[in-house]
Amino acid sequence: MDKHSTGGIGDKVSLPLAPLLACLGFRVPMVSGRGLGITGGTLDKLDSIPGFKTLLPAGKIVEQVQKVGCVICGQTDRMVPADKKIYALRDVSGTVPSIPLITASILSKKLAESLDALVLDVKFGCAAFMQTRTDARKLAKAMVALGNECGVNTRAVLTDMNTPLGRAAGNWLEVKESVACLDPSVLPASRWQGKSSQFCRQDASSTFADLRSLVLDCAAHLLVQTRKAKTLAAARKQAEDCLNSGAPRKKWDEMLVAQGADLGAFNKKLALDTTAPVIIELKAEKPGFVAKCDARIIGEVIRDLGGGRLTKDSAINYDVGVDQIAKPGERVEKSERLCRVHATDSVQTKSAIARLKTAFEISTKQPGKTPLVAEVI
Ligand code: URA
Repeated sequence: MDKHSTGGIGDKVSLPLAPLLACLGFRVPMVSGRGLGITGGTLDKLDSIPGFKTLLPAGKIVEQVQKVGCVICGQTDRMVPADKKIYALRDVSGTVPSIPLITASILSKKLAESLDALVLDVKFGCAAFMQTRTDARKLAKAMVALGNECGVNTRAVLTDMNTPLGRAAGNWLEVKESVACLDPSVLPASRWQGKSSQFCRQDASSTFADLRSLVLDCAAHLLVQTRKAKTLAAARKQAEDCLNSGAPRKKWDEMLVAQGADLGAFNKKLALDTTAPVIIELKAEKPGFVAKCDARIIGEVIRDLGGGRLTKDSAINYDVGVDQIAKPGERVEKSERLCRVHATDSVQTKSAIARLKTAFEISTKQPGKTPLVAEVI
């Protein structure tokens, strides 16, 4: 089985989900994509892991799925070749947010995997290709219908992409947060501590509560779709127990080694607070509640820091990004951190900070909670 997202900022769900699904007994031949527009791509994120290979021949993919249980790789010149070419063209030709092209792009990869079940994460909001929930529903219905017509039990969740998922965006920073989702001890709680006692970033397990929740939701749907669980609640508990067991963290390492990663170098890199030359904090100018944290602005800033592509041949800087992001609903005090910027030089950081200031809105009133999963189709 597999999961695919239509793309967002900080959307790293596939990384922790693949090993979790493998530990739940599934076989996961995940064929992923690169960044498109301002959204990050799973393959670009994985390229930040020392030695990790995403370009694998079909024989190796099959072998790894049988042996390890999961693989995350890209299209090749012989496997889903059209998507690879069309993708690069769409990215630079203003044809990214097209329902037929997104449907074809995602399902061509997923149908090549001969799946039994598929869950699709269809994003809506300011940083998604579908800005409105209505358009996201249209896209979800098109993909769910095509998947099911082609014999794959397909479901879609519509999820909010007005604010980034998790607290980190940028290729390497997202890998790091994905590992922390599998094993929270990777990010010591103290690193996230704010000044105020009610500030929820104090607790390591709540630092990426939305990410963890979506990973569990996707796993739970697949358990129900494949009749391994009767209800969504029972499935979620099964997925949560598995995640808490620590087995998916070990499976992640197994997948990395199978795909050529240098585990020693990877673990050393994980221990670093930053791999970028410059790091700077954006601080709140007044106390209050975070009312808005605009994922589109954050995505554009990261792309312009070098974390995404402006042309189809742009080289990516894996180390830049934004982390420790304060999320809507959270309280911040004056001068407390709203996020950190990882950049290549101080000129970059200045313009990034100026733009990031416009991404956050602080209000005296705590905003109501918006559910992450708005609908299931
Ligand atoms: N992911 C894909 O693989 N293709 C798209 O068009 C969008 C997201």
